[in-house]
Amino acid sequence: MHSSAVAMPVKRMIQLNKLFRGQFLRCIFSSRLSRSQSNLTADRYNVKRGPYGSVSQDDIGVFRNMLEPHRVVTDATELEAYNEDWLRTVAGQSKVMLKPRNTDEVSTIMQHCYKKNLAVCPQGGNTGLVGGSVPVFDEVIISTQLMNKIFSVDTLSGVMICQSGCILENLNKSLSEHNLIMPLDLGAKGSCTIGGNLSTNAAGIRFLRYGSLRGSVLGIKAVLADGTVLDTMTSVRKDNTGYDLKQLLIGSEGTLGVITEISLLTPIKPACVNLAFFGADSFEDLTSMMKLARRSLGEIVSAIEFLDHDCMQEVQTQLGYSNPISRYPFYMLVETSGSNAQHDEEKLTVFVEKCLESALAKDGTVATDLGKIEAIWSLRETIAEALKKRGYTYKYDISLPTNEMYKLVEIMRDRMEGLCTVYGYGHLGDGNLHLNLVTDEYDQEIMSKIEPFVYEYTSEMKGSVSAEHGLGFKKKDFIGMSKHSSAVSVMQQLKNLFDPKGILNPYKTIPSS
Ligand code: FAD
Ligand code: MLT
Ligand code: ZN
Repeated sequence: MHSSAVAMPVKRMIQLNKLFRGQFLRCIFSSRLSRSQSNLTADRYNVKRGPYGSVSQDDIGVFRNMLEPHRVVTDATELEAYNEDWLRTVAGQSKVMLKPRNTDEVSTIMQHCYKKNLAVCPQGGNTGLVGGSVPVFDEVIISTQLMNKIFSVDTLSGVMICQSGCILENLNKSLSEHNLIMPLDLGAKGSCTIGGNLSTNAAGIRFLRYGSLRGSVLGIKAVLADGTVLDTMTSVRKDNTGYDLKQLLIGSEGTLGVITEISLLTPIKPACVNLAFFGADSFEDLTSMMKLARRSLGEIVSAIEFLDHDCMQEVQTQLGYSNPISRYPFYMLVETSGSNAQHDEEKLTVFVEKCLESALAKDGTVATDLGKIEAIWSLRETIAEALKKRGYTYKYDISLPTNEMYKLVEIMRDRMEGLCTVYGYGHLGDGNLHLNLVTDEYDQEIMSKIEPFVYEYTSEMKGSVSAEHGLGFKKKDFIGMSKHSSAVSVMQQLKNLFDPKGILNPYKTIPSS
């Protein structure tokens, strides 16, 4: 890792001295609050319980025999954190959480739940943002937190085989010892699991470089509704034999099976990483700089992200971060990763000069050492946390044509004037807008002014109502805004085939047929 002082023609040096992202996020995730502020999902959304069995004392006894007693959690206080989502916007009423250690134990649990018609909710790090990771009623929570073994890392091919409960950041650290990295990175890295990442097909800030997680997964092991173990594990990259069943499980949000093991292709760790941070007057200037970045940085660009000033202000006010440059309406991060520090820095220097000379960027700074890079990334990666501290977040995660992306934020500011604060940020390089609206607390009238309007707008723009977070509980009824009815119908048939009793994560992802 190159760690020399900044050698770029920038207007201002970074003066940040903040905690590294990882440390910061671990603090956030270790301080869960009580559930009292959020309403039960079933009440707030008026959901009717499905025709499932209820967990009895006999069932608890069976689970205790299957697992060690301490891996069957029934204590109401302990269960609170697993019944409520990270955003503190939905809450279930589960009476039991199970902590299996391996595929066989998950299979035995599912065999029993299938026989007794007990609904289940698979849970990884519980960092999901669409209400998919927590029960709605009394589903049995199957937590993967003890399934955290790395079985092997092949340093020649880069193939890693591990259990699904491994935490993303831990995997990245272990791979780093072999000069490898995970193909994805996101703000929840200190808590989210690779199984949760696959189940939501999570994207994050490395998507621009390494593409969809779907392309990096070589194989999975998953337990189906009746306890059958579906084994598609392989370490080969090329395999065209029959249907690619693992792709059905990826992004299925726990509705088709519980993923237990993963074979993943991991990239070589870049030898040098640099980060440029700019201030700009308009969103149009950001898109022009993005065009310039793609042209002049070419293969070394690894991330292009943006935030508006309202986000910056919340990160400063709620979390105490400082803006390394002056105040501008928009900010942009351009990261480069490569194998030759001198080559990358020369290219980045030319790019930064062009941005400043053309006045697309009004101010900027470049970080080349890890501490400063981490500190600048924190400004972007902790927006979700800052907004959560501010109040109730109505969170939208949509794909739109890149040059039109910010228009929706402006439309919503007009539409919601005086009712809530509207924020825009996201993965600019991927055409993925994070539109967030915040009020002091949940308000049904405000909600009905936002939805379905946001989804209808997105659909008219031929975008996607879920770019990366999935549909979960909150968005399942809007799938039709992004998928043709013929596709939804085949999904419903697949769901019936995989899970005829509908016990796997009910009330989520696709509307029942
Ligand atoms: P959970 O939240 O526990 O579960 C998510 C879904 O997957 C649920 O439906 C659950 O039932 C299912 N599931 C979990 N594990 C399994 C399993 N082993 N088998 C079957 N189903 C399972 N997402 C992005 O895409 N990009 C981002 O940049 C991003 N940034 C985030 C930043 C913050 C601060 C936070 C809080 C969240 C962010 N997310 C992001 C959302 C979230 O982190 C991801 O969706 C993540 O992949 C979820 O992993 P998890 O282990 O926490 O899964
Ligand atoms: C992000 O990119 O910051 C995450 O997807 C979380 C969010 O949307 O707030
Ligand atoms: Zn995101």
